[in-house]
Amino acid sequence: MRINRTAAIITSLAIAVSLMAASAFKAAEPVRYTNLKVLPKNISAKELQGIMVDDFQDALGVNCSFCHAGNKNGRGLDFASDARPEKEIARQMMRMTIGINKKYLKVKHPKIGSDALVVSCNTCHKGQPFPDGVE
Ligand code: HEC
Ligand code: HEC
Repeated sequence: MRINRTAAIITSLAIAVSLMAASAFKAAEPVRYTNLKVLPKNISAKELQGIMVDDFQDALGVNCSFCHAGNKNGRGLDFASDARPEKEIARQMMRMTIGINKKYLKVKHPKIGSDALVVSCNTCHKGQPFPDGVE
């Protein structure tokens, strides 16, 4: 009897531990973004942040709010909103950048944010929102 009880306790502990492990795994799942049209919908938060900061913010010398509209309550930014035209221009620029790399520079699977890109946002922008220097 005693052995059976011990076995039962061990079994329930094992179930509890595996449930905890399962929920920890869930917490590490990628964030769901709601309005991605060019980037992969299952992109990780780390990868998306890297693109927004290193490829967009730094290459254009702007803040997030250059492309992203503010929340209606006046606090923070509504990243999924397309209210600012700069965001849609940026999408066209993303498609153009992928196209140049693929068509003219023969990069096999060009992806925004990848080191394999020959031409990136920074190639033309060099820290400026308007690479031609005219507003
Ligand atoms: C040059 C313009 C530009 C700048 C600057 C920029 N973003 Fe973005 N951001 C975009 C575009 C374009 C998309 C949508 C990409 C797509 O459709 O695949 C996007 C998407 C996002 C999303 C996903 C929203 C959703 O749910 O669909 C987040 C979050 C985000 N940006 C955060 C940031 C942060 C944080 C910064 C500043 C560090 C930033 N962005 C700077 C253009 C920009
Ligand atoms: C081949 C060169 C080139 C590349 C690569 C490029 N851009 Fe541009 N971009 C331009 C030029 C030129 C303009 C200015 C167009 C104009 O004056 O109407 C511009 C304008 C923009 C604007 C609009 C500024 C405004 O309000 O008029 C945004 C936003 C932008 N680019 C984002 C990006 C992003 C993000 C990337 C990378 C995914 C990128 N660009 C890659 C050349 C480039």
